[in-house]
Amino acid sequence: FLPQVLQGRRVLITAGPTQEAIDPVRYISNHSSGKMGYALAEAAANMGAQVTLVSGPTNLAEPVWSNRIPVTSAQQMLNAVEQASHDHDIFISCAAVADYKVKDVAAEKIKKSQHQMSIQLDRNPDILATIAQQIEKPFCVGFAAETNNVIEYASGKMQRKNLDMIIANDVSNKDIGFNSSQNAVTVLWPDGQQSFAQMDKSALAEELIRLIAKQFEQTRSN
Ligand code: PMT
Repeated sequence: FLPQVLQGRRVLITAGPTQEAIDPVRYISNHSSGKMGYALAEAAANMGAQVTLVSGPTNLAEPVWSNRIPVTSAQQMLNAVEQASHDHDIFISCAAVADYKVKDVAAEKIKKSQHQMSIQLDRNPDILATIAQQIEKPFCVGFAAETNNVIEYASGKMQRKNLDMIIANDVSNKDIGFNSSQNAVTVLWPDGQQSFAQMDKSALAEELIRLIAKQFEQTRSN
């Protein structure tokens, strides 16, 4: 049994990719498998939390002890997270949300005609920044998937998005990050940081949840 550091707490987690439709049979997405987010959900539940997992499309089974809400697009993920965020203590945004969506989604399958075609894209809403701007916001933890200047960019994202913590993930290394079974990260918060060497995502998730619970309790007692 793990220490019940989140007993009585409600934790909202996003995981996996989003899919942005081009037409009825095609979409834009990314390589997120959902493994990191699902491992966090399982670790939080094993440490006593009530977990809501808003998940983009993945091949993973529903983790035991968590309430999974399946979504497809970034807009659907935002709607589900906004609805749930008010009665959760902690929000961990692990999903790889598509930054752009297709401006005009075709109602019918697009036929090939010319040698080239282009698709116009519109910015998607930033789910994490939206939640972190709420007056009664949960304790907000983001991820930063970066290929260069990892710590500097992650720290900038933490400040810009008004986060309590950010988990910097160097995704230039294929052995960690997207669709791998292991990960290595550095966690930043306003007055500290801690690095975790490469390990299985399930083991890392336990370490991360312990650290998040500790920082959460500290800010609540201040
Ligand atoms: O799913 P796996 O295969 O296990 O891979 C795990 C992972 C690499 C996807 C994960 O560890 C990770 O890094 N997740 C964040 C991916 C990401 O989109 O990072 P970002 O730096 O682009 O976004 C910064 C933060 O804003 C993230 O917390 C993201 O969830 C959030 N965001 C981004 C865009 C958007 N429109 N809405 C958001 O909420």
